[in-house]
Amino acid sequence: MNAPSTHSRITGTGGFLPPRRLSNADMVALLAQRGVETSDDWIVERTGIRARHFVDDGVHASDLAVAAARRALEAARREAGEVDLIIVATSTPDMVFPSTAAIVQNKLGIAGCPAFDLQAVCSGFVYALTVADAMIRAGSARCALVIGAEVFSRLLDFDDRTTCVLFGDGAGAVVLEASPTPGIVASELHADGRHVGILCVPGTVAGGQVLGDPLLKMDGQAVFKLAVSALEGVARSVLAKAGCQASDIDWLIPHQANIRIMQSTARKLGLAPEKVVVTVGDHGNTSAASVPLALDVAVRDGRVCPGHRVMLEGVGGGFTWGAVLLDY
Ligand code: UT7
Repeated sequence: MNAPSTHSRITGTGGFLPPRRLSNADMVALLAQRGVETSDDWIVERTGIRARHFVDDGVHASDLAVAAARRALEAARREAGEVDLIIVATSTPDMVFPSTAAIVQNKLGIAGCPAFDLQAVCSGFVYALTVADAMIRAGSARCALVIGAEVFSRLLDFDDRTTCVLFGDGAGAVVLEASPTPGIVASELHADGRHVGILCVPGTVAGGQVLGDPLLKMDGQAVFKLAVSALEGVARSVLAKAGCQASDIDWLIPHQANIRIMQSTARKLGLAPEKVVVTVGDHGNTSAASVPLALDVAVRDGRVCPGHRVMLEGVGGGFTWGAVLLDY
């Protein structure tokens, strides 16, 4: 056990999207083969999504996670051997068990440090970052890999146009290190299990078979309404904890599900739309990967700079939601 550290700080980010990109036109053609009608206009207008990336057969969440993790390690100028904690947020693990994090650890060529998965669906990365921050501040780790990795294409019902056009595959990662200064300033997590049924994959594995339906179900409007109020509420609460105002935020990086939810959150917080990092157009909804992927895009294109105050927000199945306020 190391000596307790006062704070944790992100020292590197990485992202990875599988190369197979499907534009809305590709989705229109794919669904037409099944007699399912959709259009580029509908998808863009209702969601802001123009494309998503899907893995090929044989590629798993751990493969995407390792690619993102290697980029984050490179950005942090760290070797895999220096990592002493791995948390993978995923709802699409490689196997029922062991954890995708253990598989990632092995693929990175390291052994011995704790590695576990965290399941909070689209809030997964914000949950994982909060857990890693707490472990670093408690002195249980000094150099954590925190990853969101998903292959949601495996869960999609391509006969259900209300969901299958929304999601994509990908992974994002950060290196979170012990630091004498923050770093992570404040965070807050929530769940309300009364809403399990509005966004779920109800199938399970039992007796050598899949029991129940292993495809994604969503009541989009119910999720939309909860998401809008949850994202505003938790942002305000985290700002209050940190003793600062919405106007102190340089960048808002919300879960990338729908441009309308993000715009509404920014509007309610009084933030200019230019302060919101939006990647849903190119990525679709990549669940637990969406926030670290968006963060990585904004770091690499020079928007998020050292010293900037960034609000990360997650929301999704469970129902779960949370936010992390950090100084990059
Ligand atoms: O990641 C976890 C968090 N997830 C979310 O935050 C998702 C939240 N929900 C949403 O983003 C939106 O509710 C959706 C994008 C899922 C749906 O948008 P909406 O504006 O709520 O549409 P709707 O469900 O009210 O459907 C409107 C119409 C319906 O037709 P009728 O009944 O008005 O004739 C749908 O059948 O749009 C139709 N529709 C489509 N049309 C063409 C639904 N999906 C499609 C489609 N293409 N893909």
